Amino acid sequence: MAAESSLACLSMPVEPLSPSLSITDVADRLLAEDSKAFLSLPVVDEDGVPLGLVSRHALQNIFMMRFGRDLWGRRPALDVMTPALVVSEQLSLEQAARQITGQLRYPITEDFILVDGAGRYRGQGTVLDLLKAMETRMAQRNQILRKALVDLKESQTQLVQSEKMASLGQMVAGVAHELNTPLGYVKNNVQLIDELSRPLFHLAAAQAALADCLDNPACDEAQVAEAFNLAAAARAEAAPEALEADLRQLVGDTLYGLGQIAELVTGLKDFARLDRAMSEDVDLNDCVRSALLIARNNLKGKIEVLQELAELPRLPCAPSQINQVLLNLFNNAAQAMKDGGRLHIKSWADQDNAYLSVQDSGHGMPPEVLRRVFDPFFTTKPVGEGTGLGLSISFKIIQDHGGSIRVASAVGRGTRFLIRLPLRQPAALKRSA
Ligand SMILES: Nc1ncnc2c1ncn2[C@@H]1O[C@H](COP(=O)(O)OP(=O)(O)OP(=O)(O)O)[C@@H](O)[C@H]1O
Ligand SMILES: [Mg+2]
Repeated sequence: MAAESSLACLSMPVEPLSPSLSITDVADRLLAEDSKAFLSLPVVDEDGVPLGLVSRHALQNIFMMRFGRDLWGRRPALDVMTPALVVSEQLSLEQAARQITGQLRYPITEDFILVDGAGRYRGQGTVLDLLKAMETRMAQRNQILRKALVDLKESQTQLVQSEKMASLGQMVAGVAHELNTPLGYVKNNVQLIDELSRPLFHLAAAQAALADCLDNPACDEAQVAEAFNLAAAARAEAAPEALEADLRQLVGDTLYGLGQIAELVTGLKDFARLDRAMSEDVDLNDCVRSALLIARNNLKGKIEVLQELAELPRLPCAPSQINQVLLNLFNNAAQAMKDGGRLHIKSWADQDNAYLSVQDSGHGMPPEVLRRVFDPFFTTKPVGEGTGLGLSISFKIIQDHGGSIRVASAVGRGTRFLIRLPLRQPAALKRSA
């Protein structure tokens, strides 16, 4: 519905009064009006410009007075006229409502006059109808807004989901890489053990044949001598004394590799407690260690990781969400230190809060980047490398935990994120997804 037409809809083409009409004539007109919709009638000059309104109330007062009709009846309508609220028909419903409510006077103005662009009378409307129309429109708008809010929440959930998938993807890639190294040498070692142990089986078989021969009275001297020679050759080939050290070393290395694999798998399980459940007593330092394990692949090389983790009281939080925050901070730091540097992770606590500082010596950020780091989709990374959601989701997670996350950075010097988490949750943890 066009704005103008909705305002025009509210106006009625009431026949205006001429200012020269006497009060008695006006009273007669009012009596003749069958519609009681309007409590007043418009007065318009000969050019069609509205002059004001004559209200039923004003006339009633006159005719209720003793000799009112005789005293006032002949006087012109102008004498009892009140100023009118005048609104241009070009205004939208909202503009008209704003103008009229801004001009309402006591006694409450009930009617308004509608004029065209040149200020000439076009019709009359009631303030009540206008307010009702506004109420309907607001209800419609509210409904649209409610729907937009639902849509927005849905797309936010989807975004959070896709960021989760992206960080899961990063994590899986990192862990796969981490697993690959020990797996590679465990496989090599097992192949070597297989190769090196083969002569031992030959030796065992040759020695068993010699023992059988010695045990067998049917075996002649020549056969014993041959069996003896074969066993001696197998022994020389297998060289079990030299082999023992090699085999022990290989088995030791293999067990070490398997231990690393087991550690990674445990770390992965701890990290990805995908239930996102809230836990009552979490050691924040465990989250740091678990996220570091997962980010290890990205932090390798020329990055030195310094951990200064003080003993912390256990606190209530959703560890998988905190892990997600930390992984993003560590990965951001690694990406800012492509040429190497130092990642300093520090934790401490006071009476009410635990604190975590994650500081890198990377390229840092200029103020215009720093200002926007927590904005969703803000990224300075090339397409495909960053979605720009990491920090905005981290912000929300920490906020939902009743904590705060702050950042300071200087170009060329590095960046420091400071997380504060309350030791006691004031309210139930809100879930971010
Ligand atoms: N430690 C840091 N050093 C320098 N710049 C940083 C650091 N952490 C964040 N930034 C800047 O903030 C931007 C937003 O970070 P955020 O983690 O939200 O998204 P992203 O890392 O670009 O992408 P995503 O995390 O979704 O993969 C980054 O693109 C980068 O410009
Ligand atoms: Mg990031």
